[in-house]
Amino acid sequence: MCGIVGYVGKHKASPFILEGLKRLEYRGYDSTGVAILQNGAFHVVKKIGRVANLEKEIAKSPLNGTFGIGHTRWATHGGVTDANAHPHISSDGKIALIHNGVIENYAAMKKFLLTKGYTFKSETDTEVLCNLIAYHYAKEPVVAGENRLFASVRKTLLHAEGTYGIVVMGVDLPGEMVAARKGSPLILGLGDNENIIASDVSAIVARTQSVVYLKDGEIVNVTQKDFRVTTLDQESVSPTVDRVTWNIADSEMGAYAHFMEKEIFEQPVALENAMRGRFSEDGSTTNFGGLNISASEFRGIERFMFCACGTALHACMVTEHMIERFARIPVECDYASEFRYRNSPLFRNTLFFVMSQSGETIDTLAALREAKRKGYKVLAVSNVVGSTIAREADGGIYQHVGPEVGVASTKAFTSQLLIGAMLALYIGRMRDLSFGAGQRCVTALKGAPDLVRKALELAPHVKAIAKRYAHYTDMLFLGRMSLFPIALEGALKLKEISYIHAEGYPAAEMKHGPIALISEKCPSVIFAPAGEIFNKIVSSMQEIKARKGPVIAIITEGAELPAGLADEVITIPTCHEAVLPIVASIPVQLLSYYIAVERGCDVDKPRNLAKSVTVE
Ligand code: AGP
Ligand code: GLU
Repeated sequence: MCGIVGYVGKHKASPFILEGLKRLEYRGYDSTGVAILQNGAFHVVKKIGRVANLEKEIAKSPLNGTFGIGHTRWATHGGVTDANAHPHISSDGKIALIHNGVIENYAAMKKFLLTKGYTFKSETDTEVLCNLIAYHYAKEPVVAGENRLFASVRKTLLHAEGTYGIVVMGVDLPGEMVAARKGSPLILGLGDNENIIASDVSAIVARTQSVVYLKDGEIVNVTQKDFRVTTLDQESVSPTVDRVTWNIADSEMGAYAHFMEKEIFEQPVALENAMRGRFSEDGSTTNFGGLNISASEFRGIERFMFCACGTALHACMVTEHMIERFARIPVECDYASEFRYRNSPLFRNTLFFVMSQSGETIDTLAALREAKRKGYKVLAVSNVVGSTIAREADGGIYQHVGPEVGVASTKAFTSQLLIGAMLALYIGRMRDLSFGAGQRCVTALKGAPDLVRKALELAPHVKAIAKRYAHYTDMLFLGRMSLFPIALEGALKLKEISYIHAEGYPAAEMKHGPIALISEKCPSVIFAPAGEIFNKIVSSMQEIKARKGPVIAIITEGAELPAGLADEVITIPTCHEAVLPIVASIPVQLLSYYIAVERGCDVDKPRNLAKSVTVE
């Protein structure tokens, strides 16, 4: 969580930092702040709330320095107050610091620093780290040609337990930043006579596309023209400079009212990008460039284990269904946060997969590391090139859908569903799935973007329904088979952005408990696609109607519901089973979006949330 920007260069730092913070705001939006070094002093402005508040405050007395740091916070230690906002300045006034993460042993550090006369203005773990750097800085001998700040940050971090992405400035060292990371993302953007440190590339693409992805345990000294990376153990590192493929337009909202709306409507193109170049020439299977696993190794796999969090876990659950259906190999899915501590027994020939849009979710990263530690090969599905998960995995599949800014995941989700289905087809074709069945599946997958376009035409109809249902306080989402995870996802979307209590269940499970919730005050959204269990789902609807529960039915073309059973009907196109979950996601995304708008919620920045969860 939290967004970090540090700038050293030829331009005024504060406008660039503010711009970067706006682009990173989806990472945390409890408070924001900047510290600019000018005329030998730190000028600090901090405000609770959004970057716009900070911008207004800075406009009152503009900052001219060309060197500074800025932060948008997602509070972990200490409430949402101006004092707890970052940057923090050490009590001797020497050090300024921004931090993403949690310093777990901050209490012991604080006790020690209090005995040394350091004082504290905030309740944060970050201020403790800042003062500890100041303590080491004060003790560090001044040696010509040696960087005292770098040395004192390094010494401090050797004592720090927990996670951090930090950027540090010294009041006596204009033009010199030190940054380091462990568990929290940090990148270095190399510009023309300017350098930038940031949490992710969206903050730098306005100025440069050359980027160095820092690794855990690395520390970097950055000046306007230069940078030097080493490990905390003082081993030198030869960093790789990568090129970012996203551009500035990708992270702008254009004519849409919210990023979520833009990202919902972008899905046909996103799906095209995710599938491009990944079908075999004979049109019966798929190819993935970066799996780093041979066909014969794949053949030896007897089980799959998928770990992820939130929406990405729902995508894994659909993938489970597809792999079991097309390839007949057992798949297990687990919450990444649970897997890590559960010490679950894994079969020998298990292939481990993680899915993460951001590639930075700490729980998912920890699950990946745990599986690797146990000697398993781990593959990752991720949207962010160069992210920690993408780098630490043994191979994987990029989603290629461009930056997803809305906190509620939409295009990343459907592209994960697509990739999951393509993966299932790939494995299925290595086993018993016939050439003909493979071809039918490829044709269907290629047609998915157009079916999604068609489903998006339902927007005005769904919007009208949303207006009628926005006042409810509880809702159920019910689906079966591959649409059960879509029911979970529908409920998660609604909770996240509209704060309506919602739950997802397998439709038939409802009678084992949740049916007690049904009344005229609790509507149910039910997926009822034509097909083998349509009649069973209709029976569940009858049970709801018998108890006066309002019903919003999402059916496929040609499915005929008994008259009067559903209060609202949303009809999506008929599609192949590999594509159905993708198309069925569209109405629930639209429904939650329009309900949230109707309720006046801050759709892109829902309360208490942040886009990328980099704390445990
Ligand atoms: C999605 O709408 C949520 N904001 C959240 O559940 C998210 O999917 C989860 O935190 C995982 O994120 P990741 O894909 O970046 O790992
Ligand atoms: N732990 C720090 C705080 O609560 C940093 C949180 C963040 O990553 O934004 O201020």
